[in-house]
Amino acid sequence: MAAAVILLSCLVLLHAALSDAAGGELQALDCSTAGNYSAGDAYAASLHRLLAAMAESIDDGGGGGFFKGAVDVGQGSGGTVVYGLAMCSAGLFSRGADGCKGCLTAGAGALVERCPGSTTAAAMLDRCLLRYSDRNFFGTADTGPSV
Ligand SMILES: *[C@@H]1O[C@H](CO)[C@@H](O)[C@H](O)[C@H]1NC(C)=O
Repeated sequence: MAAAVILLSCLVLLHAALSDAAGGELQALDCSTAGNYSAGDAYAASLHRLLAAMAESIDDGGGGGFFKGAVDVGQGSGGTVVYGLAMCSAGLFSRGADGCKGCLTAGAGALVERCPGSTTAAAMLDRCLLRYSDRNFFGTADTGPSV
């Protein structure tokens, strides 16, 4: 009886671990070559802040696993603003903020690693997606840094 309970617990834990891994698995990457930034420039600094903010902004509250914002380390000096959008699937977010954060962190890592220099890129993972650009693609007037 005890052994069965332990075995069942192990299966539940294993399933949870596999589900989390699946949520962070990369499905597609779109690295635009229309514009390039250089490592160490202001755009790179804005981008890294933005990607970190995506995961950090997710909590169990009303945000619903959704992020939209912009970062501009140059504070309007031009060419240094990065717009970003990120979201987790409702299924992932409903199990708590941590899975969503993990997925966005994995996606941010993939974007930095595999789209080096792209000023516009997007990553689709199993259970979340991330997109950033030097152009405002929100469809509404979003001026200034909101992060
Ligand atoms: C950006 O970099 C890629 C890869 O090095 C290159 O193919 C592309 O032409 C560059 N784009 C611009 C606008 O310089």
